[in-house]
Amino acid sequence: MDALRQKYIDAIANVADEAALEDLRVAAVGKKGEVSLKMRELGKMTPEERQVAGPKLNALKDEINSAIAAKKAALADAALDERLRSEWLDVTLPSRTRPRGTIHPVSQVTEEVAAIFADMGFKVAEGPQIENDWYNFDALNIPPHHPARQEFDTFYMNRKEGDNRPPHVLRTHTSPVQIRAMEKTGAPIRVIAPGRVYRSDYDQTHTPMFHQVEGMAIGKDISMANLKWVLEEFFAAFFEIDGIKTRFRASHFPFTEPSAEVDIQCSWVDGQLRIGEGDGWMEVLGSGMMHPKVLQAGGIDPDKWQGFAFGMGIDRIAMLKYGIPDLRAFFDSDLRWLRHYGFSALDMPTLHGGLSG
Ligand code: DAH
Repeated sequence: MDALRQKYIDAIANVADEAALEDLRVAAVGKKGEVSLKMRELGKMTPEERQVAGPKLNALKDEINSAIAAKKAALADAALDERLRSEWLDVTLPSRTRPRGTIHPVSQVTEEVAAIFADMGFKVAEGPQIENDWYNFDALNIPPHHPARQEFDTFYMNRKEGDNRPPHVLRTHTSPVQIRAMEKTGAPIRVIAPGRVYRSDYDQTHTPMFHQVEGMAIGKDISMANLKWVLEEFFAAFFEIDGIKTRFRASHFPFTEPSAEVDIQCSWVDGQLRIGEGDGWMEVLGSGMMHPKVLQAGGIDPDKWQGFAFGMGIDRIAMLKYGIPDLRAFFDSDLRWLRHYGFSALDMPTLHGGLSG
């Protein structure tokens, strides 16, 4: 019995895995195992022999069973340790990026514009895209029969028959946000208002929906000189060209007096437009000193305050900066175009991070 004991205790100690351990268990204490067969022999013994052998065999069976249980637990612990070692994962590693969509050039440029003007103290203001004609026209010194109303190719909203109120319009420019911002904040104020605008027009450089950014600064001594500095500062930052040349041409808008259209220096080389060099000029915005009637419409006393305003096409400056030839493609949602001209989501300019590199 001692030899039997030694055989199994040694074998259990040396076993390498759970399957082998189970084989050992069957061989020792299974129904036909060696220890079990020995127990069956008890019946053939004399009562005296049985009294000695019985307890010894039972003790052996118990010892083997608990050795197996202990070994089983040790094997499980070792297996877990091994798993923990081999399946170790560093959760502090940065994950791999999986680029999906891209940022549309209009969104990118809008963010760039907002970041640059934020540096000069301009907040972002907003207004509705469906305006009433008071905000879109009258308040901006464009009365009902003013010829400027015809120039805008306005989309008018339908009115129910018998409803004789003046129609709402899809705003034709971001200028009505001037009025809304003045009403909301009063003076002094410095805001830009980027957003969608609508005109019934369609060719290579016109789409029925496009984007403008309005700018407005009102103070006690705001002048045309401030307008010029702010715009030159903006163009230098936006096109990333120090000392970019601008040209202010006298013009006319109902909502400004005096008014100026602004061009930036450019050249055409081999059919390619180059900003900031050569002797060509590209018109990029309209601007001027706010008309007293416009200040008044916004609830601001024109005898105490004065301001400048400007309106610029976002799509237009996006085309210029990123060399995009056709405006209509902006709104086609063609994936090939979006992948080509789109920006990485991780590359967006932010108010705190500035323009992306
Ligand atoms: N609202 C004008 C347009 O859509 C652009 C413009 C011109 C805006 C002069 C202004 C400005 O604020 O002062 O054509």
